[in-house]
Amino acid sequence: MPKLSEPWQEKIETERYALYLGDCLDILPTLESIHLVITSPPYDNLRTYNGYLWDFEKVAPQIFCSLVEGGVVVWVVGDSTVNGSETGTSMRQVLRFMELGMRLHDTMIYEKASVNFPETTRYYQIFEFMYVLSKGSPRAINLLHDRPNLWAGQKVHSTVRNADGSLTPKVCIGNLTDEFGIRYNIWRIPHNLPGRHLHPATFPEALAFDHARSWSNNEDTLLDPFMGSGTTGVAAIKLGRKFIGIEIDPTYFAIAAKRIAEARLETPAERALASLPRDGTAGDLKRLIAKRRSKR
Ligand SMILES: C[S@@+](CC[C@H](N)C(=O)[O-])C[C@H]1O[C@@H](n2cnc3c(N)ncnc32)[C@H](O)[C@@H]1O
Repeated sequence: MPKLSEPWQEKIETERYALYLGDCLDILPTLESIHLVITSPPYDNLRTYNGYLWDFEKVAPQIFCSLVEGGVVVWVVGDSTVNGSETGTSMRQVLRFMELGMRLHDTMIYEKASVNFPETTRYYQIFEFMYVLSKGSPRAINLLHDRPNLWAGQKVHSTVRNADGSLTPKVCIGNLTDEFGIRYNIWRIPHNLPGRHLHPATFPEALAFDHARSWSNNEDTLLDPFMGSGTTGVAAIKLGRKFIGIEIDPTYFAIAAKRIAEARLETPAERALASLPRDGTAGDLKRLIAKRRSKR
């Protein structure tokens, strides 16, 4: 049972993680030294989550205060359409984070494999934003090198644009293009793992996992103040990070607690497998490379 003075209804704590059942607005002020937040808050009342509400204007400063200098927030959001217009709420939230002192480090796109609500008056909505914000300069940057290079093994060559607009070929003798280059900032991530239906709005484990790899180091502390079914927590444990999760709904809290308790640090072999290119874009490019090579 919680003490009367404690702002949570339940807390599960181990050496690797702490999970809170309660309102993140009450619990965030008790947290500090967070290295990375990966979260997808409820947005635009697209889903009511059993009637629980939250106030962005109050929560955003608390998230900012909980971060260490160089800490990063990955804010996974989209907008609903009201009276024929997209709300733009996600963009307003990002501008507010910037007013609070955060940098907008990268505006990234999570491209889904399929469409939720087919539209008849506009192109099918297939993505969510993944805003990467940082408190100062990000302290951990481990960009993923898993995009197959079309020109792998060949001499690096490009062109330089001259002042008069003409192009001069540039060849860097001796430098061969690597097999893999740094990933682009649009991630097409299939969402087909078991467990995705445990909660109405999970994001893929690969999304959390790849952001955790990109913006944190071993033993860092990750936070998800809108934990849902605990996807960020599972990724954190598999990667050897520590995790703090907050969820207001007891049913989702129980699902998250079970998933995170069952998660284990990945073996080197599992980690190597997890590092393989797994987004559709990389797959398409691989096929294109194979086709080109077969023609040579
Ligand atoms: C979009 S879902 C997160 C899903 C999660 N990323 C996953 O993969 O399972 C947002 C969650 O925030 C929870 N929530 C809503 N208001 C909250 C609050 N004030 N404090 C903590 N959690 C809240 C909802 O119950 C819901 O589970």
